[in-house]
Parts: sequence; C-alpha cells; structure tokens
Amino acid sequence: MCGIVAYIGKKEALPILIDGLKRLEYRGYDSAGVSVFSGGKIITEKAVGKVVELENKINGRDIPGKIGIAHTRWATHGKPSEKNAHPHCDCGKNIFLVHNGIIENYKELKADLEKIGHKFSSDTDTEVLAHLIEEYKKQVPIKEAVWRTLAHVEGTYGLAIIDRNEPEKIFVARNGSPLVLGVIDDGYIIASDIAPIVRYTNQVIYLEDGEMAEVTPCGFQVTNLKRKKVEKEISKIDWTLEEAEKKGYDHFMLKEIMEQPEAVENAMRGRLVVKEGMAKLGGLRDVADSLRDLERLVIVSCGTSFYAGLVAKYMFEEYAGIRTDVEFASEFRYRKPILNQKTAVLAITQSGETADTLAAIREAKNKGAMTLGIVNVVGSTIARETDAGVYNHAGPEIGVASTKAFTSQLSILALFTLFLGRQRDMSFVMGKRIAEELAKVPELMKKIFKDSQKIKKIAKKYSGSSDFLYLGRKYNYPIAMEGALKIKEIAYVHAEGYPFGEMKHGPIALIDENFPSVAIATRDSVYEKTLSGIQEIKARGGKVIAVATAGDKSIEKLVDDVIYIPKTLEMLTPLLSVVPLQLFAYYFAAGKGLDVDKPRNLAKSVTVE
Ligand code: AGP
Ligand code: GLU
Repeated sequence: MCGIVAYIGKKEALPILIDGLKRLEYRGYDSAGVSVFSGGKIITEKAVGKVVELENKINGRDIPGKIGIAHTRWATHGKPSEKNAHPHCDCGKNIFLVHNGIIENYKELKADLEKIGHKFSSDTDTEVLAHLIEEYKKQVPIKEAVWRTLAHVEGTYGLAIIDRNEPEKIFVARNGSPLVLGVIDDGYIIASDIAPIVRYTNQVIYLEDGEMAEVTPCGFQVTNLKRKKVEKEISKIDWTLEEAEKKGYDHFMLKEIMEQPEAVENAMRGRLVVKEGMAKLGGLRDVADSLRDLERLVIVSCGTSFYAGLVAKYMFEEYAGIRTDVEFASEFRYRKPILNQKTAVLAITQSGETADTLAAIREAKNKGAMTLGIVNVVGSTIARETDAGVYNHAGPEIGVASTKAFTSQLSILALFTLFLGRQRDMSFVMGKRIAEELAKVPELMKKIFKDSQKIKKIAKKYSGSSDFLYLGRKYNYPIAMEGALKIKEIAYVHAEGYPFGEMKHGPIALIDENFPSVAIATRDSVYEKTLSGIQEIKARGGKVIAVATAGDKSIEKLVDDVIYIPKTLEMLTPLLSVVPLQLFAYYFAAGKGLDVDKPRNLAKSVTVE
C-alpha cells in the first residue's frame, strides 16, 4: 500500500522527496505530504490528490533542509483529507512520522492516550504512534521510546520518524510493510521500494520485520526487537525503474495475482478469531442488532464483484440460513425491487465508485432498506453512502482486470458468513472449522503458485483457440463465470462461463475439437456430477482443462490437462480455484504480447452508466 520516502544527507531534501513520491505514484494513493527539518523547525505540507497538488501547495517556496520524510497515503482509517494525510505529529509538535500499514489496536490505544490528555488531530490509526512515542519519551530517549511504542502496537508498519530534538537522525522501522535503505555518496534515501532509489544508487539494504535503523548523514545502525545490533549486507540491484515499479514482474496483474496471499491475510487481520470460531467486523458493530433480525440480503454489484456476490449467495444460504439474492446493479436500479425493513442491500465494489452500484445503493436507501458495503477504496462514494460496511484493505489494485480485490472480497464474505451464522444457528464447532480453514488459505494459495510454469505451458498449448467454455457447479459456478470474464477482458477471446448442469441445455452444441472447455472439478459435494459433465464433453471430441483437487490422479485419464489446487472446505474452494484461472488468462494474453494491465475499451473504475 502507498509509499514512504525519507532522505538524510548533504543535499537539499525537498526535491529528492518530491521526486521520490512521484516514483511511488504507480502504487496508488489519495493524498500526499512531506515534513522537512528546516532551520531548527519541522515544516510540513500536505495535499489531497496527486503529488503535483502538493507541489502546487508548496508553490516554489524554498524549504531549505537536508533531512525530511514524505508519504503518499492510501487511506485505510479515516477518509482521504488533508488532516488525515501524513506526516502526523504528537501534541508537542516534536515527533513527525509517516506510516504504511495498519495499526489494529489503535482504538484502544487512542482511548487510553486521550484519557491522559493527548489531543488527536486526525482520524487515522497512524497518529497514535506519534502520541505513544511522545508519552514514552518522558521517561526514555527517543530510540527506546520508539521501541516501546512498537512493542505496544499490533498490526503492520513501515515507519520513518524524525524528532525536532534530534536534528541529525531518522528512525525507520518495519513490520510487514517493506522498507529499503539506499546508500548514496553523501547520505541515505529510504523508501517503501526501490523505485525512488534506483536513480541514485544500486546499493541497498533491505530491512527485515522487527528491525529498526537509526540513520544519520554519515552512517546507520540496525537493531532488532531485543535491542541487539544486526549486521546488514549491502545488496546490489540491477532493475530498471520500470521493473522496480512492478517489483520485477512483467505486469501489475501478475504482481497482484501473486499478492493474493497477503491480500487475504490483510482482509482477515484482526477480524478472524479462530479460537472462538467467530469474525469480529468492527464496521458492522453499530448495525449488529439489525443484522440479527435480517430475513433477506440483496447483493448489488458489477463484473468481478458480482461474481463474488454469487459465491456469497451459496455461503450465506448454506451457513447463515439467510435468503440471498444477487443482482447486477445495472438491472436492480431499473427494476421495481421489493424491499422491506428486514432486507439489507449489500454493495460489493473494489473502487467504491462504480456508477451502477452507487445508483443501486441510492435506490435501496430511497426504499428504506439498510445499506452495507464491502469496499476496497477507503473514503470512496459508496463507502461514504452506505450505512455500515467492511473495508478490504487489499491495497491499491492497478491492473484493470481485478484479481486480488476478488479473493479479498471472498475472504470478507466468508468472514461475514461466520458473523451472520454465529448470530443465528451456526454451532461453535462449525464456526471454528470454517475459521481454521480460512486461516490456512494464504498458505494454500502459495502452493498454487509453484505450478505457475505448468499453467503457462498449458496456456501456450491452447494459444490458438479463440473460444472457451468455462464450467463449474455450486460454489464454483461463479468461478467459471469469473474465469471466462478474465480471459475475455485481457485476451479478447470469446469465452462463456456456465453452470455445468446447464451445458446440456444449449452450450454443448458448440463443442468440437476446436472449442476447449475449462472445467472446475474439485473433490466436493458435486464432484461426481462434474465428472459426468466432463464425460459428455469428451464423448463429443472436446478438449478439457480441469482444475482438480491435489491427489486426484484418476482425473488425469479423463481430461487433456490438469491443474491442481490444494484441498479446503467446499465453501472456500473459490478462493483457490480462481487462482489458476487468473494465471491461465494472464499467460494466455501476455503470451500474445497484449497490454494486460490496460486492456482495450475498459476502465478501472466505471463511473458512467
Ligand atoms: C474486473 O476484472 C473488471 N474490470 C470489472 O468487471 C469490475 O469488476 C467491475 O467494473 C466492478 O468494479 P468495482 O468492483 O470497482 O465496482
Ligand atoms: N493506516 C494509515 C492511514 O490510513 C496508513 C495508510 C497507508 O499505508 O497509506 O492513514
């Protein structure tokens, strides 16, 4: 998520910081800010929007100084606004810091700090860090105060901190959000990734989780949580700027596919309580009582988010016993939907700005229904206009084809199932089982990546095909639709997603040796039926690529190609079965040299009807 740049050395800091922020723009952000040590003071500027807005605000004003920190924020707590933009500071305006990540226990910490007189000036989780350091500094030197603060917080952080009383130092620390220290002739540049660094040096030091570096203009020292000195090796980078932005991946889409274990982890962080078999969803706290009485849920969404909604229908009805209808937002808004007090309308949207979904939510509000959102972009219109909701925390998604936002949505929907289910009849044992399996999903996803090269080969083998039929049943029917959408979007080939049982009612007429099918055939409650469907295709000379459960050797005899995914609970298979389909579409399109990240005719956020 978002980005940090810090500089300490002999050069003027401001131009280096602004240039660095621009090089981090590709990561996605909503506001920016900078603090420079200048003549004994710390001067801070912030702006909503692009880095140029920040530049406009500074407007050529000379802010001389050789030490500074800067940030592009991708809001997770508190809407994008000037007051929420980083750097944040303490009450005494001595400690200034920038932060990437999420402080999960910020609410408790904030309440405690307020009780002893601290005044907060933003809605962010980040600000507690500055006040905690201020508090500890009353007893111990700054470095120890930072350590004690970090010992107190739960969550993830990449941090850069300056203290007005220590004008020759920057402290940087990492836990979960990357930080790289670039060694340059006359100082150091520190950033969330190497993009701002490569133009100055190829000598870098990667901080590890639990490490803090104290950096001065002429040296640095890294220590760990035990306050022990850590010897760091200097690594040499040989990436170009473009490669650096994509972390070495050829496309953002591939990078985002690979980021899914982390995105799922972030969706569950602080929410999944395995030992209680429960999900704690803070954003739903205020409406929890109304949710208990709910009789029906209507999900409104578009595209990939719509397919996440279809999966949710199976989850909610099977495990929470709530009648769930899923509607294309673009249709819902023009129907005369029947809604009542016991119906809630749930929008699922990555961008939070999709015009059709927004219109559907407004329609639902007019009809007096409670509105909920599962939204990735904090402070977006749909996040603001719904009565309550849950943020994905998947980080910015740059590729137009949605990947990590989708699996993040599925994770939140699984959490929501636990939440609603446990409010109703779901037993503790069942809740615990789902929670345990959900917690394993990130690791299971990583296993699928080991087969990436195999999937690439299969994509190459079928590169001459211009039509595909994607088939799946039950929980995997929406995944068949999503698989087909992915390849349509980025490879411009004809693909249809169908519930497998429907194939015999029409699409089977399309099958011949030139019309391959992709069948999701995991070992679940509908496995045997799926196998029969595959037999029907084979009997007509059709080729079949199957997504199957690891260990299912028998399916190899039946189909042409198999991609295996690990076993999990049936309701969670979509989180895994979609991954090979994303990779298949990606390699298929990338193999043809297509612009995978920006497919023709499509926009990342569809704000028109
Ligand atoms: C996904 O790959 C698509 N680009 C598109 O279908 C997208 O999911 C849809 O436009 C909905 O967007 P949203 O989640 O931002 O509302
Ligand atoms: N959680 C912090 C905030 O919302 C930091 C977000 C980020 O990584 O940019 O301000």
